[in-house]
Amino acid sequence: MGRFFFFFLLSLLVILPTAIPQTHSKPVMALPLYTNSRWIVDEGGQRVKLACVNWVSHLEPMVTDGLSKQPMDAISKKIASMGFNCVRLTWPLFSVTNDSLASLTVRQSCQSLGLSESIAGIQANNPSIIDLPLIKAYQAVVSSLGANNVKVILENNISKPGDQYFSADLWIKGLSRMATIFNGVSNVVGMSLRNELQGPRQNVNDWYRHMQKGAEAVHLANPDILVILSGLSYDKDLSFFRNQQVNLTFTRKLVYEVNWNGFSDGKAWKSGNPNQVCGREADNFMRISGFLLDQGWPLLVSEFEMDQRGTNNVNDISYMNCFLAIAAELDLDWSFYLRDGVIGLNEYHGLLNMNWTETRNLTFLQRISSLQSPFRGPGLSEANLHKVIFHPSTGLCVLRKSLTEPLRLGACTESEAWSYTPQKTLTLKGTYFCLQAIELGKPAKLGIICTGSNSKWQTISDSKMYLSSKVNDGSTACLDVDSDNSIVTNSCKCLSRDDTCDPGSQWFKLVDSTRSSSSAKTFN
Ligand SMILES: *[C@@H]1O[C@H](CO)[C@@H](O)[C@H](O)[C@H]1NC(C)=O
Ligand SMILES: *[C@@H]1O[C@H](CO)[C@@H](O)[C@H](O)[C@H]1NC(C)=O
Ligand SMILES: *[C@@H]1O[C@H](CO)[C@@H](O)[C@H](O)[C@H]1NC(C)=O
Ligand SMILES: *[C@@H]1O[C@H](CO)[C@@H](O)[C@H](O)[C@H]1NC(C)=O
Ligand SMILES: *[C@@H]1O[C@H](CO)[C@@H](O)[C@H](O)[C@H]1NC(C)=O
Repeated sequence: MGRFFFFFLLSLLVILPTAIPQTHSKPVMALPLYTNSRWIVDEGGQRVKLACVNWVSHLEPMVTDGLSKQPMDAISKKIASMGFNCVRLTWPLFSVTNDSLASLTVRQSCQSLGLSESIAGIQANNPSIIDLPLIKAYQAVVSSLGANNVKVILENNISKPGDQYFSADLWIKGLSRMATIFNGVSNVVGMSLRNELQGPRQNVNDWYRHMQKGAEAVHLANPDILVILSGLSYDKDLSFFRNQQVNLTFTRKLVYEVNWNGFSDGKAWKSGNPNQVCGREADNFMRISGFLLDQGWPLLVSEFEMDQRGTNNVNDISYMNCFLAIAAELDLDWSFYLRDGVIGLNEYHGLLNMNWTETRNLTFLQRISSLQSPFRGPGLSEANLHKVIFHPSTGLCVLRKSLTEPLRLGACTESEAWSYTPQKTLTLKGTYFCLQAIELGKPAKLGIICTGSNSKWQTISDSKMYLSSKVNDGSTACLDVDSDNSIVTNSCKCLSRDDTCDPGSQWFKLVDSTRSSSSAKTFN
């Protein structure tokens, strides 16, 4: 490419921001939702990325958790204000299939379990539901979410853990009833058939037999909603779809969900070098569930979690960093716990504190918030395709404030548009500038002579999460972040078999994005 061409590009960059109308200014959400290959889309075909919270309503009293602590509208508003567009609201099968349970009011249900404190709390915070039948109270929660523009996925769960009385016919009857009750309720966009199949029925043949029947029953009762299927082994394993596709009479409505708690093997992260574990578990994820994306199905990660107190061990921390990097790279739909769903327990995995008012850890919320809006998908212009350099341990991306200031981490929505060339340079799209390593412990810089070894960035280690180059004296360096979030190069850490080393600050992921790029911003 000649010099002239570059100047041509530069001049385009000056003109473009004003010449092209903003195409992505807040599209109006058109429900119901459909699928288009691996993406969930609205009626207009625009991608809708589901960024949900799990809100529990299937515990013994069968009343939505938290309603004794805060008015439901306050909780709905809080969910929306944290940037989530959807709730996975669990429901217990018996609340619709067992007539004597279904006819209970909220008060009676709590009374039968001796939960007098809950009754007082609900009376104080949500007096309008205390004497409603359980299902009406549940419907009130769904409409409160709707009034706050939050979509709902109805998530079937067992009422008693490990319930041995599970009957497939009853289950299908329950699904069908629930789908019917919410037919016409526009913010109910999906129904998840069954969380975590358990017990002796857990085998592939039964799975197909029951799940296909359940899916058809839901679709028949309510053709507007997405039908969401989960896998085996506590919904970690979807590998059996490789050999046998689901056979359904309807199309454009099928989504899969998978749990990714500490990855497929709960102990995987307890020991082992974080790079090796991340590399292995990422491969494993693709093998047992991520392959569905390549086959053209949407995949929602329905559970991933971490103690948010910051007292975690390095393996927990690396698990979340590894997960967030891959969730960004694959641009997955996902759901995170609002509260852990154990009544009255002060747990540290959910987003809200005990009182259902405050965010437990704002830093953590900001991290996962970076994955709330889509990086790509239908309706986002492929012409904008570029890379962002995502830093999972902060949820931020590499950007610069101006030509003169050093590169630093900032909101991914303001990220530069990078291209990662076949020569392994990281170039600001449409410019001469490429990322360069200069000296260990010093800022990485933008330069215009991009042929030297200090401009080539390899993704190294088993995790492939480092960006490694050579500094001017020839030693190997890794991109890193210093305490004030500026981008520096340091010696690469944790590459040995050390299990206690935290590579977090040096873990980056190059993520494809078509969000309207801001690389032109310093030119105008
Ligand atoms: C309904 O639930 C009640 C209370 O748990 C139980 O005693 C009864 O056996 C259930 N009925 C059916 C038909 O499952
Ligand atoms: C379903 O219920 C079981 C038992 O209470 C629980 O372990 C699991 O996390 C629940 N799933 C969801 C999505 O709440
Ligand atoms: C799919 O289901 C239909 C009926 O719902 C049946 O006729 C057909 O044989 C099934 N196909 C496979 C491959 O199982
Ligand atoms: C919040 O989370 C961040 C990172 O996820 C952690 O470093 C920090 O210690 C946590 N803060 C508190 C107060 O728990
Ligand atoms: C919860 O609320 C109570 C009283 O309303 C207060 O004493 C307590 O400090 C609050 N706890 C948290 C974690 O906000």
